[in-house]
Amino acid sequence: MDATDATILNGRELARRTMDELRRESERFAQAHDRRALLLLVAVGENPTALLYAEQVQRACLRTGVDCQLEQFPAEIDETTLRLRVAALGARGDADGVVVLLPLPGHIRQRMVTEVLPPEKDVDGLGPRNAGHLMLGFPSFVPSTADAALALLRDAGVALQGQNAVVVGRSNVGGKPAGLLFLRENATVTFCHSRTPDLAAITRTADILFTSVGRPNYLTAEMIRPGAVVLDAGMNAVDGSLVGDVDYESLRAVAGALTPVPGGLGPLTPLMLIRHTLLGPD
Ligand SMILES: NC(=O)c1ccc[n+]([C@@H]2O[C@H](COP(=O)([O-])OP(=O)(O)OC[C@H]3O[C@@H](n4cnc5c(N)ncnc54)[C@H](OP(=O)(O)O)[C@@H]3O)[C@@H](O)[C@H]2O)c1
Repeated sequence: MDATDATILNGRELARRTMDELRRESERFAQAHDRRALLLLVAVGENPTALLYAEQVQRACLRTGVDCQLEQFPAEIDETTLRLRVAALGARGDADGVVVLLPLPGHIRQRMVTEVLPPEKDVDGLGPRNAGHLMLGFPSFVPSTADAALALLRDAGVALQGQNAVVVGRSNVGGKPAGLLFLRENATVTFCHSRTPDLAAITRTADILFTSVGRPNYLTAEMIRPGAVVLDAGMNAVDGSLVGDVDYESLRAVAGALTPVPGGLGPLTPLMLIRHTLLGPD
């Protein structure tokens, strides 16, 4: 193998095609409901990560014909008031999806807020009903990064059934839903985290490896099996650039397929929210 053997799983290219599909779906939605679909984003405080993601989602909504409103609350809002406000947004008859942007300020418990969203509008799947349904293997909204990973795999013709899938990271937005989704697709799943001894011995068993850790370039070529499919959800700022969890250059020579950062899962995640808003859970 030479250093360019891995197939690059191009999220930008799939995002372009997905956008065309969603534009058609949003037209269908507008015809059926006599109005455009509406996605509400809830931001608390001025967290740059949350606001950057809000901009990306707003741009994607604009391009697909879905209305999007950003509802901003001050960082000092107390949990009880925020719960009431988010519940009121969820009750709005004109809102089809509501997403609470993360991270929230430290004094607010995420679950206390996401649990007041009506499950049918919890399009990022972080509330208890959707997370529970994912765990039980029932149709549910799946957090967008995990859903983006599945979309890229399907598009590349990579079937999960019977494969060894290793997930590194067990956050509720990243590793945990990805692993449960892969399990629902009949992969044999292993979860790894910061207390996993000899991580490399486990990652080397992976046919499909998903990482959401937040450590730049930590996953190196000797940690994967030749030919493995590697999905990198890491988005780490290093010297003003964005890098993944994966040591991309060294893995290109060994992996069978690999997502770049940027340009892998990132461009697809806002589109998963829009797809959920228009089409419901799957
Ligand atoms: N593209 C997107 O939309 C998206 C979405 C989510 C996340 N991300 C990115 O993905 C990265 C992780 O985000 P997150 O929210 O999932 O992070 P997180 O909540 O900080 O979780 C990190 C996970 O990695 C595990 N971990 C930390 N060090 C490890 C090590 N040395 N070996 C093995 N596991 C280790 C942690 O284990 P413990 O549980 O034991 O602490 C934890 O489960 C970040 O770069 C973030 O920006 C991107």
